[in-house]
Amino acid sequence: MTVQQAFNQSAAGYDAWVRMALPGFDDLFSAALRVLPFEPGAPLRVLDLGAGTGLFSSVVARRFARARFKLMDLAEEMLAVARLRFEAEAGRFEYSVADIRAISARGEYDLVVSSLAIHHLEHAEKQALFRQVFAALRRPGVFLNLDQIQAPTPALREHYWAVWLEHVRAQGATEDQIQRSIARRQAYDRDAPLADQLAWLKDAGFAEVDILYKHHFIGLFYARKE
Ligand SMILES: C[S@@+](CC[C@H](N)C(=O)[O-])C[C@H]1O[C@@H](n2cnc3c(N)ncnc32)[C@H](O)[C@@H]1O
Repeated sequence: MTVQQAFNQSAAGYDAWVRMALPGFDDLFSAALRVLPFEPGAPLRVLDLGAGTGLFSSVVARRFARARFKLMDLAEEMLAVARLRFEAEAGRFEYSVADIRAISARGEYDLVVSSLAIHHLEHAEKQALFRQVFAALRRPGVFLNLDQIQAPTPALREHYWAVWLEHVRAQGATEDQIQRSIARRQAYDRDAPLADQLAWLKDAGFAEVDILYKHHFIGLFYARKE
């Protein structure tokens, strides 16, 4: 099964699952909004890579009422959930069933966001994508990538898994949900180390790069194009 088929299959229950499965959910998105250097009324152009059901876009859309969004994802069923989510404000949202490895925009966006998607790419593809994102942004522009991080040692990897399992069980996840998530992670995830992800963003040309929030193997990467 491809990553596209896997997410088409899990689209229906995805939103409820991600709220349970993402440790630090509220803090991550709150940190994302707080760092954005835009006025609430700014007519931003936003690109959401691997947008899925539109989670990150929905958070940004609530804060920036005049922002317009392009949601890009390979999985049509995930985008179908996003369409329903944004039905009441359809004019602000555009959808593209496409591979994020093929973005070709030049200086079109004020903000590029991505959550839990880029770790599906091979490392060389992540590096290439960061360069494409840099090119797609205006000046000034911001790239926010909420994504997974490879643990630096096997011992910490075990520790991160233990913390995650404790978290999802406390949130009420069923063993079936947990096992399906683990199977997806093993099949489709290519997590990169923290230092590499920061270095690739710098190499892509971003002037200011940091990890704003980290919760074990989840992090919010921030990169600013001056
Ligand atoms: C874990 S989901 C995250 C969805 C959403 N961003 C969120 O945070 O809830 C990963 C998404 O990335 C998409 N995806 C993975 N590889 C992709 C690629 N190469 N091009 C476009 N979308 C991709 C999948 O189809 C899926 O919808």
